[in-house]
Amino acid sequence: MEADEKFTVDTEFLLTGRTLCEYRAMFDLEIETLADRTVLDCPSGAGSFVREAADRGAEITGVDMLYDQPPAVLKRRVQDDFGAVANQLPEKADLFEWNFYGTVAHRLELMERAIETFLSDYPTGRTEGRYVYGQLPTLPFADETFSLVLSAHLLFLYGDRLDFEFHLTAIRELCRVASEEVRIFPLVGLDTEPYDRLDAVIEILAEDGYQPARIDVPFEFQQGATELLRIGV
Ligand SMILES: C[S@@+](CC[C@H](N)C(=O)[O-])C[C@H]1O[C@@H](n2cnc3c(N)ncnc32)[C@H](O)[C@@H]1O
Repeated sequence: MEADEKFTVDTEFLLTGRTLCEYRAMFDLEIETLADRTVLDCPSGAGSFVREAADRGAEITGVDMLYDQPPAVLKRRVQDDFGAVANQLPEKADLFEWNFYGTVAHRLELMERAIETFLSDYPTGRTEGRYVYGQLPTLPFADETFSLVLSAHLLFLYGDRLDFEFHLTAIRELCRVASEEVRIFPLVGLDTEPYDRLDAVIEILAEDGYQPARIDVPFEFQQGATELLRIGV
């Protein structure tokens, strides 16, 4: 089945992860402002953002529907998915923009670094509450638990298999647990086409009383994916 960014894997959603430097660019984040901020990363996947943000003083929680799985199961799964990306990326390189990563090797190196950090932090992080099982469109948190809520590479990207109702319910849920803002990236699907009902999402969120806005980001990997959706709550 097609999964994240044009890679063929055996599962519905690719389990990979990204690093803090990628999050900084794709969410246009000022990393210094993370200190002492309560942050939710959902879905967090096998990324190092949670560990790296915690190291910078953020009170951070990563949520993923795979976090009910033991470390050994996630390790196997993430190694399989990394292998699929590593095999396919060189021949698919022309489908992506390379200003940020420079080379295929650097993209894979960051992914590997993210995965290694995640795998070493996950066993302790689970018991310390840094990694929490949750499955959108519902989250196991009280209203306004987090000042900043980040969501990358699920909503809009998988618009071919997650329907409009799912998107709306999930985004409202992300807004419910946020006290300041939600940021979602990217706004395009796996085919790099803009999510076709983005205007409707924005209109409904504005009617709900939120402040949604499309914002340019200093990052492009999927062609044309240069914006995030920021929702002031
Ligand atoms: C491609 S990863 C994204 C990880 C990270 N945010 C990033 O940008 O690299 C997609 C993740 O979404 C998770 N996922 C899929 N559906 C979900 C849902 N309904 N609720 C929570 N997590 C979900 C998958 O388990 C997978 O880890």
